[in-house]
Amino acid sequence: MDISLEVNGASERLSVGPGVTLLDALRERLGITGPKKGCDRGQCGACTVHVGGRPVLACLTLAATVRQPVTTVEGLAEGDELHPVQRAFVERDALQCGFCTPGQVMSAVAAVEQGVADVREFMSGNLCRCSAYPNIVAAVEQVRRADASV
Ligand code: FES
Ligand code: FES
Repeated sequence: MDISLEVNGASERLSVGPGVTLLDALRERLGITGPKKGCDRGQCGACTVHVGGRPVLACLTLAATVRQPVTTVEGLAEGDELHPVQRAFVERDALQCGFCTPGQVMSAVAAVEQGVADVREFMSGNLCRCSAYPNIVAAVEQVRRADASV
């Protein structure tokens, strides 16, 4: 089937089978490899992207069902200017191998935008094999504090 996806502000047309996931459409068809394929079964969060501004697991989302704009980690920065959450991850050393980081960042952006009360609970679906959790939470809290002080 022919589908249209809006990804990071660009309109994309592609032909996919009904069972093709958003993750495979992004990575294999559009060459957008920020979203990672960790488990491919909804258990690690490495594939997290935003659809219509809300975080979703791209490995559990069928591409043909997506009707709202998709944002991946590639779509966060404004030119050379990193998103505040990306900057905080760097400043707080919130990554080690980096495999989980695109998914962590997308969930973290949603946590900040939604003003969630419990960051740990909200991000509990994003696993980090390097156990960078304390620094990830510190990065999110840093952005939340900065937002609160504006
Ligand atoms: S790859 Fe989607 S949750 Fe693990
Ligand atoms: S930084 Fe390595 S898996 Fe999270």
